[in-house]
Amino acid sequence: MTMLGATLILLLSIAAADAAGIGVTYGRRATSLPPPADVARFLARDTVVDRVRILNTDPLAMRAFAGTGLAVDVTVRNSLVPRLADSVASARQWVRARVAPHAAAGTNVSRILVGSEVISQANRTLLLCLVPAMQNLHTALVALALDGQIKVSTAHSLGVLAAPTTQPSAGRFRELYDAAVVKPLLAFLRATGAPFMVNAYPFYGLTDDTPLDFALFRVGATGVMDAGSGLLYTNALDAQLDSVHSAMDRMGFGDVDVVVAETGWPWAGEGWEVGVGADHAGDYNRNAIRHLGSGVGTPLRPNRTFEVSIFSLFDEDLKPGPLSQRHFGLFHADMTPVYDAGIVTAPEYVGPVSSKITPALAAPAPAPDTTAADSGGRRWCVPTPAADAAVLQENIDFACGQGGIDCGAIRPGGSCYEPDTLQAHAAYAMNLYFRSNGEHAFDCEFGHTGVVTSADPSFGGCNFT
Ligand SMILES: *[C@@H]1O[C@H](CO)[C@@H](O)[C@H](O)[C@H]1NC(C)=O
Ligand SMILES: *[C@@H]1O[C@H](CO)[C@@H](O)[C@H](O)[C@H]1NC(C)=O
Ligand SMILES: *[C@@H]1O[C@H](CO)[C@@H](O)[C@H](O)[C@H]1NC(C)=O
Repeated sequence: MTMLGATLILLLSIAAADAAGIGVTYGRRATSLPPPADVARFLARDTVVDRVRILNTDPLAMRAFAGTGLAVDVTVRNSLVPRLADSVASARQWVRARVAPHAAAGTNVSRILVGSEVISQANRTLLLCLVPAMQNLHTALVALALDGQIKVSTAHSLGVLAAPTTQPSAGRFRELYDAAVVKPLLAFLRATGAPFMVNAYPFYGLTDDTPLDFALFRVGATGVMDAGSGLLYTNALDAQLDSVHSAMDRMGFGDVDVVVAETGWPWAGEGWEVGVGADHAGDYNRNAIRHLGSGVGTPLRPNRTFEVSIFSLFDEDLKPGPLSQRHFGLFHADMTPVYDAGIVTAPEYVGPVSSKITPALAAPAPAPDTTAADSGGRRWCVPTPAADAAVLQENIDFACGQGGIDCGAIRPGGSCYEPDTLQAHAAYAMNLYFRSNGEHAFDCEFGHTGVVTSADPSFGGCNFT
């Protein structure tokens, strides 16, 4: 065989390994980032990345990717979803203004993602607008003959599932949402050939039951047997994906493709955050990309690849929350890798550059707006003053455990940890549970220890949503 032939075969086999697609989320809530044009050139030339997601429709970023061939997923802000749900005309106007010019100018716009994690947010208005907005956008794309190239979908957190379980086969969508929203959503995705997109983070699932080795795909990690299906799980990401697959199968939509819209691992964080670190982040991202692209599949979906996007391209120092939130970046602002995630092809970039790492300082949490006397019709759930301490602890345990809400804010170092009282922590957890489940009075029941109020209970640096 000629040298050229051998080289061609080598190149072809590298391309085949990437067939499922490797993306990155390009968030820009940071004080200093390189210009989008430099970012686009770098990704196209020096990495295996073939897809990028931007969290808006910033024309500067969209233009930067013109001619690179990279697939670009754009995002509709949540606040815009109700307007797009209103009429096909408003959706058509939006597509004409925000998307069509870029598609015509050579940006490979691939998907419009409608809102962000809408289903797991406690906002009924937004929830009921989701599928109509997606339908209107699709109709607008059809009218502009762009529906072949551009699909409409939306990314979900795992909060779309009922209380997490260690058994993937038991996965099901949250009640209240499934018939009203999830079913029409899946029917829409099936009809239009768009994927169901999930943000899956084994980092946030670390518990005594899912230890670090299991989350990091380490060989020798103790596998977990799913008693329901008899299938053995050797890593946490497979278990999370198959929980989604089970929920979809249960509804009769097992044929809709699942895409990992976001996954990732923070390379730095607070002292109390288990598992943070550059070595773990490198292991996780490399292994996730290799596993999902390998064709092994998951126990419930064997012998296939999955498209995966890594969160995130850069650290974002302007994001709130614990330190880890600001340290999901794969690259520093000068485009040198934070650690080896296995996505850089240019040899001069390969290898960790830990000497350059200077962790950003934690930004103070934004102060709540205490001037707003009028609650604007908003309601919160708080404990009654007479509530018993033991019951308040039970409420916290329930809301943060089975209830499935994220209680990071009331853990040491979180924005709502101070004051460290049972009453304050219970207020945070009970309220978040109430809001996350659609604000039904019965979700503030808590055995007669909860009460609905129109007075914003936010305090200090803790903002009640
Ligand atoms: C645009 O992205 C799609 C993936 O959505 C890919 O299949 C296609 O090859 C890309 N087009 C170009 C011109 O690179
Ligand atoms: C729900 O979402 C809509 C649209 O983003 C927003 O206008 C409204 O204020 C939200 N409601 C609540 C209670 O957060
Ligand atoms: C997956 O591939 C293996 C090896 O090629 C084969 O033995 C097995 O039957 C396949 N499983 C399914 C579900 O297609």
